[in-house]
Amino acid sequence: MTEPIRFLTGITTTGTPHLGNYVGAIRPTVQASLRPGTENFYFLADYHALIKCDEPARIQRSTLEIAACWIAAGLDLDKVFFYRQSDIPEIPELTWLLTCVTGKGLLNRAHAYKAAMDKNAASGADTDTDVTAGLFMYPVLMAADIVMFNAHKVPVGRDQVQHIEMARDMAASFNHLYGPHFTLPEAQVDESVATLPGLDGRKMSKSYDNAIPLFAPPEQMRKLIAGIVTDSRAPGEPKDTEGSALFQIYQAFASPQEADALRRAYADGIAWGQAKQVLFERIDREIAPMRARYSELLAHPQEVERLLRAGAQKARARAQPFMRSLRHAVGLRDLAARTDAAAPRKHDKSTLAQFKQYRQADGLHYFKLVEPGGRVLLQSAGFASPREAGQRIAQLRQGDPLDSAPDAQAAPGVTEAEIVHALTRMRDSE
Ligand code: TRP
Repeated sequence: MTEPIRFLTGITTTGTPHLGNYVGAIRPTVQASLRPGTENFYFLADYHALIKCDEPARIQRSTLEIAACWIAAGLDLDKVFFYRQSDIPEIPELTWLLTCVTGKGLLNRAHAYKAAMDKNAASGADTDTDVTAGLFMYPVLMAADIVMFNAHKVPVGRDQVQHIEMARDMAASFNHLYGPHFTLPEAQVDESVATLPGLDGRKMSKSYDNAIPLFAPPEQMRKLIAGIVTDSRAPGEPKDTEGSALFQIYQAFASPQEADALRRAYADGIAWGQAKQVLFERIDREIAPMRARYSELLAHPQEVERLLRAGAQKARARAQPFMRSLRHAVGLRDLAARTDAAAPRKHDKSTLAQFKQYRQADGLHYFKLVEPGGRVLLQSAGFASPREAGQRIAQLRQGDPLDSAPDAQAAPGVTEAEIVHALTRMRDSE
C-alpha cells in the first residue's frame, strides 16, 4: 500500500461565498475529494480572518456561510477532513515552533506585507502604519496549517504560491534542525480552474465589491447579472467573446458544446439582454439544487456546528500525536524522560549518509545514497559513464532540487524530506 497523496486547502472566512469562490475553490475541491488514493483536508481559515477583519459578527456569519456552501456543494464529510482552523489548537502551537525557525528576512519578502509597506511609503506615512504583526506572521500560520497534516499538494490561486514556497522553506529549516518531520509541500495551480471576472470585468473579489453572491435569491441574481459590463453593441451586431466578462463566466459553468453555441450566438448578434438571460439560466441550473440545502443549513447553524466539531475531532486525531512528537523533537519534554543521547550530532561524520557509485552487469554506472545503517534513500538510473553519474551526485550535493535530477529517485518508502535532510547534513559537515 503506498502512502496516499494529501491535498489541503483553506478559505479565509471574511465574506459571503460568491461565484468566484465556487468556481475557483469550492467546486474543484468537491470534485477532487473523490479521487482514490488521496486524502483531502479542507478547512475554514478563521484565524486568518482575524488578520483582515475586526468585525466578530461578520467572521461568525462568514464561517457559517462558507461551511454551508461547501456542504451544500456536495462535499462528502465521511471522505474528507473538514474542519474549522480555530478548533485545532495544535495549529497555533505549531505556528510558534515554526516562528522560531523562520528568518525574519524571509517574512520581510512576503508580497502582501511588502505591498502594505510600499503603500505606506508611497503615501508618505511611516512604513509600519496599520501593519499588524498578524499580517507579518500570516505566512507562518499558513505554513502551520499545511505542515500540521504533512500535505503534499496545496491547491491555490496564483497569488498564494509564494506562501506555499515559504511554508516549504520553514518545513525544510525545521527538518534540518530537528530531523525529517515534515513533508515539503508544493503549490498546485490548476490552469483549467477559471478565475472569474466580476461585474466590472476585474477579478471577482469581495474587496473590489464586484462579486455575485453564490446563493443570492434568483431575482437578485438576475438583477446582478444584468449589471455585468458589456460594450455598447446593439442587438443584431456581431459581438466579441474575447474580453467579454459575461462569456467568461458562462464558460465556467457551461459544457464545451454550450460555450460553442453561445460563441455562435455572439457572432450572430445576440442582444446583451438575451445573453444575460442565457447566463442566468445556466448558473441557476447548477446552483438551484444546492440552494435548498444551503438555506436549510443556514437556518440550522447548530447542525453546521456539530459537523465542524466532528470534523475537528477527526483532524485532531492526526494533529495531537504529531504535535506530541514535534514537542519532543524540539525539547519540550517530560523532565523525567531520558534524553536521547543517541540522537545524531551535527558534525559527527559517522552518522552521515554516503553516496556509493558502482557498475552493474548491464555495463551502466549507478549510484545510490545510503544511510550508515545501510538503508537506501535514493537510487539512480544507469549512466553511460562514471563521469555523468559523478556529475549528478555533485548536483545533488550542491543542493539542486531533487526534481532537477529526474534520473535519481527516492527509494520506496523514503520521503523527499528525508533525502533533503540527509543531503543538508552532508553539506553542513563539509
Ligand atoms: N491564505 C489563503 C487565502 O487567502 C487561505 C489559507 C489559509 C490557505 N491557510 C491556508 C490556503 C493553507 C491553503 C493552505 O486564499
